[in-house]
Amino acid sequence: MAVVVIIGAQWGDEGKGKVVDLYTEHADLVVRYGGGANAGHTLVVDGKKLVTHLVPSGVLHAGKMNVLGSGMVIDPVVLLEEIADCRKRGLLAEDSELVVSDRAHVILGFHKDLDRLREAAAGGGAIGTTRRGIGPAYEAKVGRRGIRVGDLLRSSRLGDVLARALDEANPQLARLGGEPYDLARLTEEAAALGDKLRPWIGDSGRAVHGAISKGQSVLFEGAQGTLLDVDHGTYPYVTSSNTVAGQAAAGSGLGPKGPGYVLGIVKAYTTRVGGGPFPTELSDEVGARLRKIGDEFGSTTGRPRRCGWFDAVVVRQAARISGMSGIAMTKLDVLSGIRPLRIAVAYECDGTRYDRVPASVRDLANARPVYEELDGWDEDLGEARRFEDLPVTARRYISRIEELTGTPVTLISVGAERDETILLRDPFLL
Ligand code: GDP
Ligand code: IMO
Ligand code: MG
Repeated sequence: MAVVVIIGAQWGDEGKGKVVDLYTEHADLVVRYGGGANAGHTLVVDGKKLVTHLVPSGVLHAGKMNVLGSGMVIDPVVLLEEIADCRKRGLLAEDSELVVSDRAHVILGFHKDLDRLREAAAGGGAIGTTRRGIGPAYEAKVGRRGIRVGDLLRSSRLGDVLARALDEANPQLARLGGEPYDLARLTEEAAALGDKLRPWIGDSGRAVHGAISKGQSVLFEGAQGTLLDVDHGTYPYVTSSNTVAGQAAAGSGLGPKGPGYVLGIVKAYTTRVGGGPFPTELSDEVGARLRKIGDEFGSTTGRPRRCGWFDAVVVRQAARISGMSGIAMTKLDVLSGIRPLRIAVAYECDGTRYDRVPASVRDLANARPVYEELDGWDEDLGEARRFEDLPVTARRYISRIEELTGTPVTLISVGAERDETILLRDPFLL
């Protein structure tokens, strides 16, 4: 039995989907515990691509149980579309393969309208959200006026819950130039969505505990990345939830003693999509090359991702906050032909040297990275399957990152396909 948590250790899109898909073979349950359809996790198997937003990335493996935990914010329209898409592909054939927490919160049209209109009104100060309604839904949750998945099934309660939500949302929509929502119509539509989701709605905490008490293995699939965490990230340029490993316990009902192994997914360079400071960002031809060769365009929104050098300050901080046991490094293949390579080992800001990410985004925006230069390589890495297959300079690059982050690299990914992987140590087989 193993309990493994996978998190993103940078600004999201590190390749969590690929790694979750790989490890699902050993797991009985795959659990999402935070975020919503702002996530876009890409799975590529035999040249065929699937992007999951809400459904866990274990979905390609038949017979596993997939859980959407209570810490999530769920857009029923997106979820129903994803389930239908999966079924077309012969996946999620049995209703029992998916449990959607009755405690998770619901995203409806007005949350998405508010997200979009607020971003438009913010002009240059916009966060650059995915416009999936994530912020408005989490605000309502902590404001104790949210709509929960279980509410969709109780027609007697649903009208009251939605009335309270619209009392607040409609004036805001009007102020921002949006259309108000009609309570009766929204109640009818929400109840219809609840009816469609009924077969999957249940107690996700019970599913997780049931599996653990039976000695089964559980894989927790994080969304976003550590620097997008609402407490630990580059606030306010963050998402509205916790993305660190501790959230796996809180957002699923697992309990703090649960996780046995925390695997941090780390891209061999750095990317970010949306606004906010990014010290190692490259606006030169190396940045353009990383975007082109790495195909760095958002899986959810299609936006070009900002690209830059590997930032060891960021990953060291992520390792500390989440107690990372190991690193899975993805996209090492993309660095072929870039010589020399650079790694940020610290920042300098107004004469002060930082070896951690400062709390203030203003300080971070002014931070100049202190770089270390390493020799690169020209070889194509796509065929490498053992550590020894890598050029010595690539091995040195990895060893240096291990030293700088204090965390061993246990998996190296050299392509999007399952087999384009060098597995050094498997947390399920420890
Ligand atoms: P996630 O949100 O963390 O699951 O990551 P995304 O799916 O948004 O972005 C990662 C992208 O990199 C996807 O298009 C993957 O197919 C791709 N990918 C993952 N691992 C590798 C790798 O080792 N090499 C290359 N070239 N692409 C990879
Ligand atoms: P995965 O799981 C990358 C970013 C958005 C924006 C900020 C807030 O695929 O790694 P939100 O819509 O959450 O209110 O947007 O967070 N963001 C992501 N960036 N990968 C993600 O998910 C992200 N989810 C949110 O671009 O900057
Ligand atoms: Mg993504």
